Amino acid sequence: MKATRSIYACEECGEGSAQWLGRCPACGAFGTMREERKEPARGRAASSKRAPIQMKQVGEEPLRVEVGIAELDRVLGGGGVPGSLVLIGGEPGIGKSTLLLQAAGSLTKHGFRVLMVSGEESASQIASRAKRTGTTSPELYLLCETDLEEVIERARELQPHILVIDSIQTMRFPGVDSSPGAVNQLKECAFRLQELAKEIDAVTFVVGHVTKEGALAGPRLIEHIVDCVLYFEGERFDSLRILRAAKNRFGSVSELGIFEMTDAGLREVEDPSAHFMDRRDRPVAGTSRVVVMEGRRPLVVEVQALVAPSKLPTPKRIASGIDHRRLAIEVAVLERKAKVRLGERDVYVGVSGGLKVAEPALDLGVCMAIASSHRDIALPLDTIFLGEISLTGEIRPVSRTEERLREAARLGFGSFVISSKSKPRNVPTGIRIHREPDISSSLVRFGLG
Ligand code: TYD
Ligand code: MG
Repeated sequence: MKATRSIYACEECGEGSAQWLGRCPACGAFGTMREERKEPARGRAASSKRAPIQMKQVGEEPLRVEVGIAELDRVLGGGGVPGSLVLIGGEPGIGKSTLLLQAAGSLTKHGFRVLMVSGEESASQIASRAKRTGTTSPELYLLCETDLEEVIERARELQPHILVIDSIQTMRFPGVDSSPGAVNQLKECAFRLQELAKEIDAVTFVVGHVTKEGALAGPRLIEHIVDCVLYFEGERFDSLRILRAAKNRFGSVSELGIFEMTDAGLREVEDPSAHFMDRRDRPVAGTSRVVVMEGRRPLVVEVQALVAPSKLPTPKRIASGIDHRRLAIEVAVLERKAKVRLGERDVYVGVSGGLKVAEPALDLGVCMAIASSHRDIALPLDTIFLGEISLTGEIRPVSRTEERLREAARLGFGSFVISSKSKPRNVPTGIRIHREPDISSSLVRFGLG
């Protein structure tokens, strides 16, 4: 048997193979298989000395370090856990470094020592970002370094409460002879950082860049090594940023943090519903209002539709922010079940605020907005539509109806169209609820039938 055997690993997803393949059998990416040396043996001496402990001696709730940025703390599950590894993924330029710098600034204000390691930027670049966001503190230490062994040494000396590694794709562990960002390097660096986080008991944030398709470049492998995976998302041309948990060993994954990128860094959006609503003075044809659940938070958003004569044999159905297959179904149901003739019409549908919604609860609102644009009749501004539409045209109840009603009522919406099968309890006082069995009856109610 050979001592070391070369294997090939996919740079995208980390799938291993004994021979080279043109296409990765796991993720289907082409030309991503690279030769990797076997990993060097890892010293596990420190951890093997740990003695077993009785379960009853273990506290249930981990200690938390509150960052002081509420939107971030909530997504983390109430703050960072010392000794844990948090991966923050996002496209380049979305604001990961800014978020972590502001987090570092807030933490130092509360007396924590923070070490920020950057493999991408010079100290002066970071300092200029710090100036822009108003982050200065003597307890904030910078280290521009890509050699992970060196980083580990410095962190041991400094003993920070919080360690930030920006980014893992630029780090190189000297014992591994592949380039930074390669599968073996990422794995090794993630393991070393996990050991370090436990050893110095620091909340460790690790930045990971994602590709256009939204996959963490390379390290789907390191997702299982880290304790928490957060994604920072948003559109380049929009200032809105959403922080989402994809995995959290210490909290729920249905939490969401909402920020806005401003000239002075990221600002928390305290009333997201108000932010997502295009406040109108008068009703406009082709718009409807709905409440979506983003994680556990109800958000009021506006659906906008435009129906226009088509010059194409196959008219366009263009969805932005909602699923295009869902839109195809909604258009078909309108055609067949409600006699809204869209066969020679292009249909465009979007959601305000650059949000991406995957909920069927949006169906009724989308159908109403399309019909409203088609007939050029505006829907009342104070009305919220909540319902999933089945292929038969029936309106089905949606989950968490009460929470959605409460959020919209808080913002002053007084009228609701819901499924006739839905029987919400604890309805806010002063609102009117209209129960409709199907899409046709809802259209008739608003003069669109
Ligand atoms: P950055 O945090 O460097 O992104 P990442 O680390 O994810 O690559 O943020 C980059 C973008 O944010 C850049 O295009 C400029 C913008 N920005 C602002 O609009 N305002 C600010 O105060 C800062 C610091 C950045
Ligand atoms: Mg950055």
